[in-house]
Amino acid sequence: MTDSPVVHLRRGGTSVAVSLTDARLPRILHWGADLGDLTAADLDAVRRAAEPTIGDSAVTYPQPVPVVPQLAEAWLGRPGIAGSRDGRAWAPLFSVTGTRLGEGDAAVLTVESVDTASELALTVEIRLEASGLLRTRAALRNEGEPYRLDTLELALPVPDRAAELLDFTGRWANEKVPQRHPFPLGAWVRESRGGKPGLDAPTLLIAGEPGFGFRGGDTWGAHLGWSGNQTLAAERTPAGTRVLRGGALFLPGELVLATGETYTAPWLYGARGTGLDALAAQFHRHLRARPEHPKTPRPVLVNTWEAVYFDHDPERLLRFADRAAALGAERFVVDDGWFTGRRDDTTSLGDWTVDPERWPDGLAPLAERVRDLGMDFGLWFEPEMVNRDSDLARAHPEWLFDGGHGPGLPSRHQHVLDLGHDGAYQHVYQQVSALIDRLGIAYVKWDHNRYLTDAGHTPDGTPGVHRQTERAYRMMRELRAAHPGLEIESCASGGGRVDLGVLEHTDRVWPSDCNDPHERIDVQRWTGLLLPPELHGDHIGAETAHTTRRTAPLEFRAATVLWGHLGVEEDLTRCDDAAFAALQTWVAAHKELRPLLHSGDVVHADTESEVRLEGVVSPDLRDALFQFALLDRPAAWPPPRLRFPGLDPDRRYRVAELAVTAAVPEGQRPPWMRSDLVLPGRVLAESGLEAPSLDVDRSVLLRLTDAG
Ligand code: DGJ
Repeated sequence: MTDSPVVHLRRGGTSVAVSLTDARLPRILHWGADLGDLTAADLDAVRRAAEPTIGDSAVTYPQPVPVVPQLAEAWLGRPGIAGSRDGRAWAPLFSVTGTRLGEGDAAVLTVESVDTASELALTVEIRLEASGLLRTRAALRNEGEPYRLDTLELALPVPDRAAELLDFTGRWANEKVPQRHPFPLGAWVRESRGGKPGLDAPTLLIAGEPGFGFRGGDTWGAHLGWSGNQTLAAERTPAGTRVLRGGALFLPGELVLATGETYTAPWLYGARGTGLDALAAQFHRHLRARPEHPKTPRPVLVNTWEAVYFDHDPERLLRFADRAAALGAERFVVDDGWFTGRRDDTTSLGDWTVDPERWPDGLAPLAERVRDLGMDFGLWFEPEMVNRDSDLARAHPEWLFDGGHGPGLPSRHQHVLDLGHDGAYQHVYQQVSALIDRLGIAYVKWDHNRYLTDAGHTPDGTPGVHRQTERAYRMMRELRAAHPGLEIESCASGGGRVDLGVLEHTDRVWPSDCNDPHERIDVQRWTGLLLPPELHGDHIGAETAHTTRRTAPLEFRAATVLWGHLGVEEDLTRCDDAAFAALQTWVAAHKELRPLLHSGDVVHADTESEVRLEGVVSPDLRDALFQFALLDRPAAWPPPRLRFPGLDPDRRYRVAELAVTAAVPEGQRPPWMRSDLVLPGRVLAESGLEAPSLDVDRSVLLRLTDAG
C-alpha cells in the first residue's frame, strides 16, 4: 500500500498528483508542470483545493473524475467502463483494495480494485516516464459468468484554461490535416471504425491555452497506442470537468470475457508542455529511451514503387540495384508486384510466392546482388489482405471476413483475410517467414490497404476486428522473434496505421504516399508531433509528384525529406548523369547529418501560415539544422525575419547556408548570406535574420554551429 492518500509522481519536469482517498479509483488532481517538493500535508491540501463547490441542482458527482469514470458514481459523461452480464452488472463501481508505487526510471502507480457485486476486478496503472510522458491503462478481470465488455476507456483531466482543441483528419495522400476549434461543452469524439486508425486518424487530440503554438501556450495531448478500432475524445461537462479520453472501440458483442479472463486496454498516452515542441519532446524522448528503439543509423533505402510500379523486369531491377548502390543506398526494397500472378492491383494478394513467370530464377539472384553491393534487402507484403482472384481465396473462401452479406464491397479490388482463423494465420505466417529465410530479407514493408468494414468471422459472423489487430501484432512479433534483426515498416495506404501500438512491433512508419514536398512538409511536421524523425520514412520522389502533379526541383524535394529515415523512390535507371550526381550528393549529405537529425530536438518557429522555419537542435545545443521554406506568396515582402527557436541563448553560433547541390540564387540572398555570420543564440531567437526572398515552393537549409 502507498502510505499517503495523495501520491505525487514527478519526472521530466512534469508532476502528476493522484488522489487515492475513500477507496475510490485514482483521480488525477494535477497533470502539469512540476510542483516541486511537497509534503504529505501539502498534498492533502492539494486534494482539498481540488474539491469544487456544488451549486443548486448540480449533479453531486464527487469531483474530480477518476481515470476510469463510472456512471455508478453519478458521472454523467461517457462512462469509462460499460458492459453487461446478460443485462446485469452494467454499472460497475470499484473499491480500491491495494496500491503500489514503484520508483525507478519511471514512477509507476498500480491500483487494484474490485466490485464484488458485479464480480469484476480492475487494475489501473499510471506511469510517469523519465521523459515526463504520462501513460495509463486498465485491465479488467471477469470473476463471474461471461461478461460482455462494451467500453474500457481511460480519461486524463486537463485544466479549464485548456480551452482550444487541435486534432487531425485527412485522406489518401493528404494525411494529418490539422483542425482547431474551441473546446465545446459535450464531447468532441473521433472514432476509427475501419480496423486501423485510418488516413483520417486524429493521431493526437490536443487541448491547450487559446492560441497555443509550437513555442508557447500550455498544451496537453492524448494518443492511444492501438492500431484497431478506437475512440479518442475530448469531453467537457457543465460542472467544469475537462478530460481527454481514449480506448479501443468494440463492435457489438465483440469482446466477451470468459470466467477468469482479463482484458488489458491499450495505453492512453498523455504528453504536455508549453508549446507543441515541448509536448512532442516528451514522446520523442520516451520513444528514444525504449530498448527496442532502432540503434543503428537508419539505412538510406531505395524503394521500387513509384519507379516501376507493377512493371517488374528482373534485368531492369538488377540494374536498378546497381544504381541504388552507386547512389549510396544501404537498403533496396522491392515493393508490390513480385508475387505470383500480380500484374496489377486486381489479383493475387494472399499468394506470397515469387511469381515464376516474371521471376523465373526467383528473387534470390536480386537479393544476393543487393547484398553483394553492400545493401540489405527488403520486400513488400500485405499479410492481412486477399484478392478474390487468388489461389488462397479460391481454396479458402471461408477465410475471408464476411459480415453476413458476403465478403463486402471490394476496395482496391481486395478483401480482408481473417487472421482469426488459425489456418489463415499459419498460411500467411509460413509463407512470409519462409521467404524471409530463403531470401535473407532484412526489412518487411507491411502494407494494409482496405478498411475492415465487414469483419465477421465465419461461419457465425461474430465481429473480428479486435482479434485481427491482436493477430497482426502477434505475427509481427513472431516474425521478429524468428528472424532476429528483422525490421518492419508500418504502411497503410500511406499513413493509415501510425500509432504507438504498432510501433511496439515495427521500426518505421510510412506517413503518406504523397512525396510532393509542398504537402509532405506538413505531413511530416504533424506526424512528427508523435514520432521523432528516425521513425518516419520520407522519400525523395519524382520531379513531378505522382499524387499531386506538382513539380518541384530536387533541392526542395530533398531538403524536405532529409530529416527522416531517408528513401529514394525515383527510377534511377532513367535518371541522367547530372540528376544522379545531384541525388548522390543529397544522400551523402543526409548520411553526414543523420547523427544530428536522429538524436536532436525537433523545433518549429511559430510563423505566418505560408512560412515554415523548422529544424533539429543537437542535445548539447552546439549544432543545429533549419529549413526555411515558403509555401505560398507571403503577405509581406521580403518574408518575415527568421527567428530561430531552441538554441542556447548564451552560445554563439556560426550561421551558414547548407548548399548541397544549388545555393539560393544571388538576387534572393540577403547581404548577411554573403559572408560569415556569428551571433549569440539569444539574438538569433529574438532579433533574427533577414529572410532570403525565396520563390514559392523553394527552401533553404541553414546550419548553425557552435562558434566557440
Ligand atoms: C500503398 C503504399 O502506401 C505504397 O507505398 C505502395 O506500397 C502501394 N500500396 C503498393 O501497392
